[in-house]
Amino acid sequence: METDQERRVCRLDEIPDGDARGFSLPEKGGRPLGLIVVRIGSGVRVYENRCPHRGTPLDWAPDRFLDETGKYLVCSTHAALFRLEDGECVSGPCPGESLGIRPARVRDGVVVLLPPRAVLDRSNRLS
Ligand code: FES
Repeated sequence: METDQERRVCRLDEIPDGDARGFSLPEKGGRPLGLIVVRIGSGVRVYENRCPHRGTPLDWAPDRFLDETGKYLVCSTHAALFRLEDGECVSGPCPGESLGIRPARVRDGVVVLLPPRAVLDRSNRLS
């Protein structure tokens, strides 16, 4: 459910460095919120698992989000590529559009989704 409270997503060590995992959080009165958590070292980027082209989930199998180079998230529907660092589409049918980013941080080894109003800078740190 959309809330002003922080929400636990997973432990950081559930995700190998440089990889991504999918998670689903319950939402009040609606579909669960699908998330992609990308681990970059000791930090994370958290994106909505929803392609900006047609709104479909990116993964073609559970937790399969990366292309063969490991540098991009790939949409399983029409093969758009999104940068891991900021979710921007660099190839495919939606160039210049981006995955929805969700503010998050790692606290005591746990990935925490912050309230939607939290303001992050480009490196996903609270500003
Ligand atoms: S739905 Fe993702 S590229 Fe078309």
